[in-house]
Amino acid sequence: MRFTNFTTATILALLGYHAGPSTGLPGTYRRSAEAALPPPPEPEPIEVIELPVPPVTPNEAEGGCTLEFNPHGTGCISATSSTLLGGNFLPDGKHVTVSLVYTGAPAAPDPASIYTGLQLIIVKVDGTLFPNGDPWKCITCGVPADQQVSFNGSTTDYQYPQAFTDGIRVLAGAWIIDCGSEQLASAECTPDKVHIYPLRWNITPDGSGAGGTIRELRKHPDDVHISFNALTISDGTLAQFGYFARLQFNPSPTEGTPLTPRYDLVNVTMLYDPNGLPNMSVDGKNLTINPQAITVGEVRGLSGLGNQIDYIGASVESCNIDISGVNIVTGEVVRVTSDPEYVDPIDTSSDGNWTVIMDTTTDNRMMFLAGMRGIPPLVDTLITSAVSSVRNNGLRRFFQPWIIDRYGDRYYDDGRYYQGQQVNGAGDGSPGSVNDDYWNGLADPRWSLDGTRIVYFQSFTVAPACGGVNPLPCLNSTEPGGRTVRLMMATLTSREPLQWEPVPPVSDVIPWGTPYVPGATLPTRPTVPAGNYTLTGQVSGYAEVAFIMNQANTSIGTVAVTYHNYSDNGDNYIFGTEQVTAVYPNVTLTHVDWYSDLHSTGISNSSKITSPGGFHFEVDVNENIFYANGTLTTIVDGIVYNQPANRS
Ligand SMILES: *[C@@H]1O[C@H](CO)[C@@H](O)[C@H](O)[C@H]1NC(C)=O
Ligand SMILES: *[C@@H]1O[C@H](CO)[C@@H](O)[C@H](O)[C@H]1NC(C)=O
Ligand SMILES: *[C@@H]1O[C@H](CO)[C@@H](O)[C@H](O)[C@H]1NC(C)=O
Ligand SMILES: *[C@@H]1O[C@H](CO)[C@@H](O)[C@H](O)[C@H]1NC(C)=O
Ligand SMILES: *[C@@H]1O[C@H](CO)[C@@H](O)[C@H](O)[C@H]1NC(C)=O
Ligand SMILES: *[C@@H]1O[C@H](CO)[C@@H](O)[C@H](O)[C@H]1NC(C)=O
Ligand SMILES: *[C@@H]1O[C@H](CO)[C@@H](O)[C@H](O)[C@H]1NC(C)=O
Ligand SMILES: *[C@@H]1O[C@H](CO)[C@@H](O)[C@H](O)[C@H]1NC(C)=O
Ligand SMILES: *[C@@H]1O[C@H](CO)[C@@H](O)[C@H](O)[C@H]1NC(C)=O
Ligand SMILES: *[C@@H]1O[C@H](CO)[C@@H](O)[C@H](O)[C@H]1NC(C)=O
Ligand SMILES: *[C@@H]1O[C@H](CO)[C@@H](O)[C@H](O)[C@H]1NC(C)=O
Ligand SMILES: *[C@@H]1O[C@H](CO)[C@@H](O)[C@H](O)[C@H]1NC(C)=O
Repeated sequence: MRFTNFTTATILALLGYHAGPSTGLPGTYRRSAEAALPPPPEPEPIEVIELPVPPVTPNEAEGGCTLEFNPHGTGCISATSSTLLGGNFLPDGKHVTVSLVYTGAPAAPDPASIYTGLQLIIVKVDGTLFPNGDPWKCITCGVPADQQVSFNGSTTDYQYPQAFTDGIRVLAGAWIIDCGSEQLASAECTPDKVHIYPLRWNITPDGSGAGGTIRELRKHPDDVHISFNALTISDGTLAQFGYFARLQFNPSPTEGTPLTPRYDLVNVTMLYDPNGLPNMSVDGKNLTINPQAITVGEVRGLSGLGNQIDYIGASVESCNIDISGVNIVTGEVVRVTSDPEYVDPIDTSSDGNWTVIMDTTTDNRMMFLAGMRGIPPLVDTLITSAVSSVRNNGLRRFFQPWIIDRYGDRYYDDGRYYQGQQVNGAGDGSPGSVNDDYWNGLADPRWSLDGTRIVYFQSFTVAPACGGVNPLPCLNSTEPGGRTVRLMMATLTSREPLQWEPVPPVSDVIPWGTPYVPGATLPTRPTVPAGNYTLTGQVSGYAEVAFIMNQANTSIGTVAVTYHNYSDNGDNYIFGTEQVTAVYPNVTLTHVDWYSDLHSTGISNSSKITSPGGFHFEVDVNENIFYANGTLTTIVDGIVYNQPANRS
């Protein structure tokens, strides 16, 4: 995902537990019901190329985009721009959407003056050109002022540009860009035919006002519904709810602003089950973790078949942040990913059989936290948000794209381990190569509708995520003009194109959700009261768990656990103690004091141990810069996983 004001990590403090088969790295964890699954696919050939984007101008002043930099006079971008965002494929599979910020345009009435500021373009993927000789075409440049709305003072964006399957419209940020009756890629789609409509989520009982702020919008494959998220502050920390809604075009609104043609979000459902089991509950002194609890922390999108909402919710295993899915009709919860590394961007192929994710596996970034498998997510009730923030170093992501089949991580019959295939794994790692580690993935990677291609984009590591105190030296981007973002396309050359069929509209009603009533008070998620409990392992042993109030006696501040041969899966048997205290100096900052002396036997011998004075770290979910005193080290069958150096 990309930054808006707050990152995904922001939200994770409030999560619960979810279920599904669990899997992991070789020798560490395996799926109990594995025998029932088809064997994992063998690695397949994948060709990765870079797609063209507008040229860079070193001079961002007005008129700095001269014909020297773009001989066609069709606009420039900045070298350091982090504003270029890859989107998805048009239904023809031959174009992808991109949003970007043009810079250096000359003043009006120069015809090139329209190539300025935030715009949506489409880029050809097959090496062909538009009639003007460019491999890209700006859709929104030069749209008449009365066919768009500018919001005074408020910043806007075209995040996650997502073409509709009609080839005519694109959802970008909280806008729908619409070329009327023309295909976006056709010569007939000219700026005078384009309208840029705002989306409005009404949050007042009388329909007044500007509507609520929404983020992380994802289009349902039926082209009629979207999912989105909205932040709130609860108990002094950030919280978030996910929503599902129908898009309804309103040509002449009479209430609320803007009073211009717009898309209203109607039939809004909060993705929260008021009658569902909480993720963790107590009965006397017994603590129970309920794997089927629906714990939508942040919605990440809809599955390719449109029947499942993918989300980040509670972890199944301690410190292991994964994607879960919940069926939109039945409310059944499944674990979509299970690798110990962090994941949040996800897209599912149109047949539902494959996911493409961005995750930190390539760098082993999170193994010191999550490499020891099978630990129940108890301390996570305090620190999921802080733990998830370790995935980045400031603006540097450690994401690379991976594809995984629908059955997830598992073993081949010959003992090899399948954890998906890195999309850009083939390459020599040299500067600028497809697997150059200085280039890190951003959200979202996207399948073509025919399932043979994936588009994704990456940013180059720049200071302060390199250089200075960081042992990683800064390098120069080898891209033209020193560009620090690149748009990439992978072709799965051995695959037959899928015969994609339009997805019929799903119901507006999510039976397990909460119909959203504008102005209604948001629900409070249930919590476990302070106390000492026993958590019984599903297969073996038990854990003594203490939830201890903080010093101010306002909320749980410490979780202390002692494991006695604890096992939920029959693969990992946990022994030892762990105690974590968290304080929240402000809404985005967490300070963690951590003491672990955990060991496990079973299919691996693992340990997770803090240094003698404990491991103390602090992280601000808006900054994501890791800073610790002391160490936390995980060892799995002799392989040692250390934390990153401070600020790296
Ligand atoms: C824009 O917003 C500012 C600050 O809220 C306000 O003073 C100004 O009148 C607004 N301008 C327009 C054109 O609405
Ligand atoms: C959906 O919203 C529309 C427009 O507000 C309303 O007329 C309709 O009754 C709603 N349908 C359901 C199932 O709530
Ligand atoms: C708590 O768990 C123990 C062991 O499983 C069981 O014997 C006891 O009945 C449980 N107590 C309650 C209140 O459910
Ligand atoms: C792929 O998906 C289709 C449609 O969902 C299904 O019928 C088919 O069996 C799947 N193929 C595999 C190999 O899983
Ligand atoms: C990067 O480019 C600048 C300007 O050309 C140059 O001064 C610097 O030495 C280069 N850095 C590296 C690591 O090549
Ligand atoms: C999961 O349970 C824990 C303990 O009660 C709680 O802190 C957390 O908020 C719950 N998460 C959700 C999403 O309900
Ligand atoms: C609860 O557990 C804590 C931490 O293990 C321990 O210090 C405390 O004595 C326990 N309290 C009771 C009442 O057993
Ligand atoms: C903490 O608060 C609870 C109720 O909120 C109260 O019963 C308890 O006595 C308080 N404990 C202390 C040590 O103040
Ligand atoms: C842990 O539990 C397993 C399964 O019940 C048992 O085989 C094993 O001997 C136990 N280990 C210890 C150290 O008690
Ligand atoms: C929280 O505190 C940190 C450290 O002092 C600071 O950098 C950050 O800006 C603060 N955040 C907010 C939202 O106040
Ligand atoms: C774990 O350690 C024990 C004792 O040294 C050894 O017998 C066993 O083979 C080890 N297990 C694995 C999976 O390496
Ligand atoms: C690390 O230790 C220093 C010196 O004692 C202290 O100032 C700082 O707050 C500590 N930071 C963390 C994250 O514990």
